[in-house]
Amino acid sequence: MKLISIEEAVNFLKRAKVVAIPTETVYGLAANAFSDTAVSRVFQTKGRPSYNPLIVHIADYERLLDLVTSFPENAKILADKFWPGPLTLLLPKRDSISDQITAGNPTVAIRMPSHPIAQSLLIKIDFPLVAPSANRFKHISPTKPSHVFDSLGAEVPIIDGGACALGLESTIVGFDDNSTPVVFRQGTISLESLQEVLPETYLLHQSSNTKETIVAPGMVKKHYAPNTPLKIVDSIENHLEEFGRGSQIGVIYATQTEPNKLASQTVALSVTGTPSEMAESLYAALHHLDKQDLDYLIIERFENIGLGRTLNDKINRASKED
Ligand code: TXA
Ligand code: MG
Repeated sequence: MKLISIEEAVNFLKRAKVVAIPTETVYGLAANAFSDTAVSRVFQTKGRPSYNPLIVHIADYERLLDLVTSFPENAKILADKFWPGPLTLLLPKRDSISDQITAGNPTVAIRMPSHPIAQSLLIKIDFPLVAPSANRFKHISPTKPSHVFDSLGAEVPIIDGGACALGLESTIVGFDDNSTPVVFRQGTISLESLQEVLPETYLLHQSSNTKETIVAPGMVKKHYAPNTPLKIVDSIENHLEEFGRGSQIGVIYATQTEPNKLASQTVALSVTGTPSEMAESLYAALHHLDKQDLDYLIIERFENIGLGRTLNDKINRASKED
């Protein structure tokens, strides 16, 4: 693993190279947003198709109006509450943002991360950073340096910030024709938390037969997937009783539980049973179990409110077969 300092990262970024950086959500594969060469390298390194747009990261408000043509009232209200932090806003883009970054969309996704390393890096450079999650396309987002290394290989330099505190991606919010906030991608900030600030906020509806070229390609059906199949089951205990003798099954428990002997491997997502703890460790659990040579993994659905709804969305995508 090629671990580098913030100063070395600045030098790489100035030379249009990519660098994996910690954020409070997941590790990002950062590059100079104003360099077409650097942005192309991000797509290449991830194996990401060009129709899937990137998030642009900024340190503070100073740069924002160089990137967007307007900052509507509702966007301001949400930013006031959640920036810096795990909120990404879709705003009308200026010409300074290339079509390569937005995949031809008239809006650009903007996020102001709160992680101290991301912040101090952004302050040291005079360009914003594109940073998709630092994993190969369709794989699980990395929440530790070793996940980045496993997914992208030894060539990508990494700033080590330890494990990400939140563990799930930012929530992406756009605005409809009436300027009402629309959740394009569920993330760390739950629908309920957004609705506390702007009650009219709603989730973008997904028709079941959407192709990958939909408005928010981040919502492709299969996403965040481990190589080992993940199955959502109604009851872990019943499933193990029925199939545990014949298959090597990895179990993901939401809270610490006396492990069933029929499970080949078990992971508990939380000690105290809070959804934020489960969110923090879900991807790490998937990364870990994916390396254990198991036939498949099982998990039960989470209680479908608040962050639990985001967690259900993530496991639904991770369990899709194509
Ligand atoms: O937490 C995060 O957001 C992390 C950290 C590194 O900041 N980044 C991240 O980026 O998750 P990425 O590229 O893995 O996911 C960004 C999603 C993509 O799925 C893309 O489809 C969507 O944002 N997106 C970007 N620009 C968009 C736009 N203009 N309209 C709709 N969706 C957009
Ligand atoms: Mg991603």
